[in-house]
Amino acid sequence: MLGNFYIEGGVPLRGEYRVKGAKNSALPVMAATVCRGAVYEVYDCPRIGDVFAMEEILRYLGAHTRWENDCIIIDSRGVNKYTVPEDLMSEMRSSVFLMGSLLARCGEAVIHRPGGCNIGSRPIDIHVSGLEQLGFEIEAEQEKIRCKGTCRGGKITLTYPSVGATENLMMAALSGKGDTIIENCATEPEISDLQGFLRTAGFQVFGAGTDTIFIKGTGRSCPGPEQMMYFILEDRIEAATYMSAVMGTGGKAVFRNVRAEIMEKVLCTFEKMGAVIRRYGNTVEIQSTKRLKSPGMVITQPYPGFPTDCQPQLMTLCTLAKGLTTIREEIFESRFTHKNELAKMGADIEICGKNAIIKGSSTLRGAEVEALDLRGGAALVIAGLMAEGSTVVRNTFHIQRGYEELEKGLRTLGGIIETKG
Ligand code: UD1
Repeated sequence: MLGNFYIEGGVPLRGEYRVKGAKNSALPVMAATVCRGAVYEVYDCPRIGDVFAMEEILRYLGAHTRWENDCIIIDSRGVNKYTVPEDLMSEMRSSVFLMGSLLARCGEAVIHRPGGCNIGSRPIDIHVSGLEQLGFEIEAEQEKIRCKGTCRGGKITLTYPSVGATENLMMAALSGKGDTIIENCATEPEISDLQGFLRTAGFQVFGAGTDTIFIKGTGRSCPGPEQMMYFILEDRIEAATYMSAVMGTGGKAVFRNVRAEIMEKVLCTFEKMGAVIRRYGNTVEIQSTKRLKSPGMVITQPYPGFPTDCQPQLMTLCTLAKGLTTIREEIFESRFTHKNELAKMGADIEICGKNAIIKGSSTLRGAEVEALDLRGGAALVIAGLMAEGSTVVRNTFHIQRGYEELEKGLRTLGGIIETKG
């Protein structure tokens, strides 16, 4: 179902919100349950489209899954296939992680080039070249990629710190004959969370969070618990999205279950724009200002830099921020698709190559707009809350891929937003 959001703008958001578990942790962790057959209770797992798509793939591979509130219980002991069919794979790019976990479990994996957001070509050459360097044989036939063999271990260096490739290779190396060192890794907190999961499952992985990760090869017989519990890291991107909505509407809110230290770059940018932020324990309190100021130039970068997944939301805020803002998108090549939709609401944005130049005005007006990808769609919802009058955001299924009941969460903060078919 495509779905639409109907929004009445102009209400400052106020109240309290508990941040949910991270999509970008839940997906690799779910894939990692394949590495070793056991029963995994994964708590704080967001109920979102991408997680349901991963669940469907796990079931196809032979796992049993069920939900108890926000906990997904995955029994991966029955996994007996190593091919991920094209139709399931095309639903979600993150299914590429299954290459690593299936190799760890079965010594063979067949996948199709993954689907995902409309934000660029998103190649998987770094994944494939890393697997080859670890000793796996790769055969590519149009969209189908077959990979088999045993990891021989050794030291490899990624040409770019890709998040997905780091996670995939961490898993592929688990069943190695020798130990593996991966250099120039991505350092995102979600990679540390995957390491935490793998260690709880009995594997020996060290160094996540730094640019060098060490994986002890266990052959294919890793001892570990028959049953285990794991709590997913909080979603720093969901937190930043709600905080942007609070910022853009001149509101004030308290966020629970979020650590400021994993989203410092975003919080500092909000402070430059005039917000007053208090950080304590697992809580962040944010108070916006009457008129936002431009943060100047913001460049998206790998962690700990400003996250590309928060760029569309920031762009929306800058449409009403006093002054000129330049946002330089350094991670994905076509991640400005929300620009034309924001323009329908009166935003003044010019795109010059990797740069978006945004001239802050005093109002946005409600309009009918279309979500074209996950974060761009969330940015339009924020714009609707900031605008004068009514906004319709069409194709909300993109948003539901990555946010659990965004409309409900925003309503708890006082936002006027309804969903209809
Ligand atoms: C992950 C996140 C996504 C986030 C992105 C960057 C998950 C499920 N998704 O995506 O939300 O936006 O990190 O923080 O965790 N690249 C190549 N070749 C490769 C792999 C990547 O050229 O083999 C390029 C990509 O096209 C992109 C850049 O590297 O331009 C970053 O990609 P990567 O870090 O791999 O992002 P994902 O893991 O896909």
